Amino acid sequence: MDKILVRGGARLTGEVEIGGAKNAALPIMAATLLAPGVFELTNVPSLVDVNTMGHVLRVLGAQVTHHDHSLTIDTTNCSYHEAPYELVKTMRASVCVLGPVLARHGKARVSLPGGCAWGPRPVDFHIRAMKALGADVEIEHGYIVASADRLTGSVIHFDTSSVGATENAMMAATLAEGTTTIENAAREPEITALADFLNAMGARVAGAGTATITIEGVDDLHAVEFRVVPDRIEAGTFMVASAITGGDVLLKGVVREHCSAVISKLQESGAEIVDEPGGLRVRGPVWGQSVNVTTAPYPGFATDMQAQMMALMAVADGTSVITETIYVDRFSHVPELRRLGADISVDHNVAVVTGVKKLSGAKVMATDLRASAALILAGLVAEGETEVSRVYHIDRGYEAIEEKLAGLGADVERVRE
Ligand code: EPZ
Repeated sequence: MDKILVRGGARLTGEVEIGGAKNAALPIMAATLLAPGVFELTNVPSLVDVNTMGHVLRVLGAQVTHHDHSLTIDTTNCSYHEAPYELVKTMRASVCVLGPVLARHGKARVSLPGGCAWGPRPVDFHIRAMKALGADVEIEHGYIVASADRLTGSVIHFDTSSVGATENAMMAATLAEGTTTIENAAREPEITALADFLNAMGARVAGAGTATITIEGVDDLHAVEFRVVPDRIEAGTFMVASAITGGDVLLKGVVREHCSAVISKLQESGAEIVDEPGGLRVRGPVWGQSVNVTTAPYPGFATDMQAQMMALMAVADGTSVITETIYVDRFSHVPELRRLGADISVDHNVAVVTGVKKLSGAKVMATDLRASAALILAGLVAEGETEVSRVYHIDRGYEAIEEKLAGLGADVERVRE
């Protein structure tokens, strides 16, 4: 397994290009299953999770080729309707093929995803949405088995905001008979991106980005070309990289309004963030101020930025209270940050971080995608060398992060094993 070595001390400067959004590309790839034809997706990041979704589509009968940052997906002969455990267990997002496959073929057999490092992550909202659209849904031998001659539009109300369930419901409803209203829908930019993609395919989705989404069912959809929006979490991660090193970095290809909550917290901590032609310039303070953070569904502070913000607060002036409200235990990065000298105490879903003047490099272990990024960010300012192992986690969601950081002056390298 590869490792990433970081030698702290460099102040990051220069420009970095932000890639396409993993969490937009994955549901959009699933949505291609709704129509036969050849789709061209551009600005698609080269990530393990994108490759995994490509495998899922191939298992379902699609032809998928990934060249540079473009995907060609031919769904003309998609006749299979089962997404196997072996693939779904490696990536929960695979469950988003449920809606499209059910809507197009009238039946679907999708493995229940496993849990993850931060808790169960059930899919009960997804199942309830399919039932609301008239499908028969059973759980058999670890699989969701769903069938419906044709889905029927209805009102779907989610108890709490769910990105994946909103996406599954929206996709399934595009081919249902009649109108569907999704209430308490997730409002993330990736939902809006998916709705834009579905409408380009001929669907009639309105209200994406708000808590109420309306879908007028149509009889069929068609293949399209589409460009994936920039990754707001990669952008936030590099904003923290500049802030934590007191750097001066221009992030290119960022949609500022997708990052408002993170930008606001970084400014509160003393970073200077200004719009420039072609990007967003982030200048870090010599020593940041501690700030309190509570994660929330968009447009609140993204849970996927919690670990990275904790790394910044570990070396901030003062004490920060970080509250995680989306997952029951998304603090697996805490013990690893402590190994670097961070002063963090955890009580249930609340972490109290007391900033220290300096961290010291150590061997640490990545436990999940965003925790990996947090450890690398901490390594950028730790004295000496930090060795981050199990970086296959980071390759799921960041394309060539060590190369991009090195391009900004960081002393970082990947050791292939
Ligand atoms: C998406 O996951 C993202 N993944 C996650 O990003 C992100 O952390 C999450 O949304 C929240 O923003 C992708 O988009 C591929 P949810 P998703 O359904 O859809 C509970 C990353 O780092 N829930 O919004 O799985 C669930 O347990 C990844 O890129 C149910 O209870 O998240 C969680 O507590 C990590 N029942 C909360 O809702 C359900 O049926 C939010 O989950 C579904 C979800």
